[in-house]
Amino acid sequence: MADNTRGLVIAVDGTAASGKGTLAKHLARTYNLAHLDTGSLYRGVSIRLLRQGVKREIDPQLAALEASRIEIADLNDPALRSEDTSAMASLVASLPDVRAALMEYQRQFANQPPDDHKGAVLDGRDIGTIILPNADFKFFCDAAPEIRAERRYKELLLAGETAIYADVLDAIKERDHRDMTRQVAPLRPADDAIHIDTGEFTVDEMVARAVQIIASPD
Ligand code: CDP
Repeated sequence: MADNTRGLVIAVDGTAASGKGTLAKHLARTYNLAHLDTGSLYRGVSIRLLRQGVKREIDPQLAALEASRIEIADLNDPALRSEDTSAMASLVASLPDVRAALMEYQRQFANQPPDDHKGAVLDGRDIGTIILPNADFKFFCDAAPEIRAERRYKELLLAGETAIYADVLDAIKERDHRDMTRQVAPLRPADDAIHIDTGEFTVDEMVARAVQIIASPD
């Protein structure tokens, strides 16, 4: 369980559009934890590069420099969730110097959560494996790619973007493949992570399951 000094720390990892962010948000509300969507850090770096005209050929040094400059304002940018940003984020995230530049920010967030919160929940790809290997609880979310693509497709339409389902599905598969096969911090469940197939549950059921596990871990 959590030690007294740092409070409850929860890691939520998973594939693209698996619902890990939704789970993390609900857990933050339930336990009054600070929440960090770590994907937004990689997305923030991507936006900074896209705005400088960078396309698929990324200069790793420039990307690492932009990662070291990330600020809260970057994380609220309306372009954060666009498909262009998603694709660039997964390219940027495979660069070791970018990951190194963002590591301390994430650990600091968990160890000294902002706004007097007593603990933190971080969601991403490598939270349980690399960033917070000692997290009190680790969840790993996944669902069939078609289910995840359908969710992302609807999200994009709701946000007023034009989207084609088949393209969204391809992009999700490509991103997962890149995230799982990269050299540094590949996407994989931690050995002690609890798996949640989010395709099988409604949001309420998914959250209830996680809360039940936290209440009686054994
Ligand atoms: O919301 P979605 O699952 O589509 O993506 P995200 O969590 O915002 O992450 C965007 C991209 O950032 C991912 O495809 C990963 O390549 C990268 N990422 C990562 O490498 N490590 C993290 N801890 C979080 C995101």
